[in-house]
Amino acid sequence: MGTLGFMSDLGVERQLQKMREDWDQRARENARHYVNTANTAWTDEEFFASGERTVAEEILTDMGNICQGKAPGKMRVLEIGCGAGRVTRALAKLFGEVHAVDVSGEMVRLASEALRDFPRASVYQNNGQDLTVVPNIQFDFAFSSIVFQHIPSREIIENYVGEVQRLLRPGGLFKFQVQGDSTLETQPDDTWLGAPFSERQAVDMAFRCGFDPRYRHGAGEQYFWLWFFKR
Ligand SMILES: C[S@@+](CC[C@H](N)C(=O)[O-])C[C@H]1O[C@@H](n2cnc3c(N)ncnc32)[C@H](O)[C@@H]1O
Repeated sequence: MGTLGFMSDLGVERQLQKMREDWDQRARENARHYVNTANTAWTDEEFFASGERTVAEEILTDMGNICQGKAPGKMRVLEIGCGAGRVTRALAKLFGEVHAVDVSGEMVRLASEALRDFPRASVYQNNGQDLTVVPNIQFDFAFSSIVFQHIPSREIIENYVGEVQRLLRPGGLFKFQVQGDSTLETQPDDTWLGAPFSERQAVDMAFRCGFDPRYRHGAGEQYFWLWFFKR
């Protein structure tokens, strides 16, 4: 995995550059607002509390699927699209080791600051399509929230799913959210409104990438959550 053989290299390169530039611009303008649009002037406290809420809602309610009997403090976790480190910080409090990527160098800089007191959390700027920047080690759990809903290419999202499959331990869970509203008109150069997935498209992607798509929630809606277990 790593290179998208099925799209023209030029098309993919343009999309990756646009994602990097647009998100760097958003990070410079008002990173916390673009990361979580519920507020335009987040305080540190409120911003990181919102990350704790995401973990409370999506992780702490689901520890059976996520940990599968393993102690959280002994688990290595991967996050795709860490933004300013809002959720990453809450993950780092819970799990033993966290590695996170983001396409935007500006976001990675902010996330690194947010994580400076967490020596077992590492943040990397990646190329927007694969995980080659992450050490080639095995992960117990992978997570991504409000990231793929912004990626305008289903091929790039699928490339990430294949990359997570490469790094996850067998049986491990990749829990992630995609845009599920297929009525939306998306454009290849729009880095805000990502490519939507129908249930069929999500399930087919899981099988192509070596996952069991065991659970789904929110099909047809913006917050379409998928539970992919590595075969
Ligand atoms: C709305 S923010 C959410 C950040 C974080 N997940 C959170 O909930 O706080 C979306 C993030 O996805 C990142 N992103 C967008 N496209 C990406 C891509 N192709 N690869 C990696 N990160 C990407 C952006 O730079 C941005 O930091």
